[in-house]
Amino acid sequence: MTRLASATRHPVRFTLNGKPTEGEAEPRLLLTDFLRQHIGATGTHVGCEHGVCGACTVTVDGMLTRACLTLAVQVDGCDVRTVEGLAPAVDRLGILQAAFRRHHALQCGFCTAGILMSLDHFLRHHPTPSESEIRDVIGGHLCRCTGYTPIITAALDAAAELAEQSRGEKADA
Ligand code: FES
Ligand code: FES
Repeated sequence: MTRLASATRHPVRFTLNGKPTEGEAEPRLLLTDFLRQHIGATGTHVGCEHGVCGACTVTVDGMLTRACLTLAVQVDGCDVRTVEGLAPAVDRLGILQAAFRRHHALQCGFCTAGILMSLDHFLRHHPTPSESEIRDVIGGHLCRCTGYTPIITAALDAAAELAEQSRGEKADA
């Protein structure tokens, strides 16, 4: 009888929301499970586990990434950002998060972490989005609760507030 060697764990050192972080992962461990179960960062949700629903969206080195299609060992040496990094402080929401709350853009919240990550990434690169651009961004995410309209409203409202904040910062510079 052949005995299978137990999978070796590899060290994974990376930056999580700006903080140096490390853990150990077997080669086949998914980034979703690594973040949630090994690192304790449970803000990233797991839905379909097939790259379809968008619930697990994070950024890796600035690229939007489905964490359910990424191995933990692949982020060794990378800059990983998750929904936990969007708030400026533990007791304060970011502008996009506050707009979601204001416009009731979430109900069960299962899809919300992933949608926030995609919208945050998009708004950083497209500060004056059209409604149809926002629709395109959230087209990669499944929400079974909100009907999407409040999410679009919140995103456009946040974009306007972010643009105003940026104008103010430029005027003060
Ligand atoms: Fe990753 Fe659905 S859990 S896309
Ligand atoms: Fe429930 Fe989107 S708020 S799935």
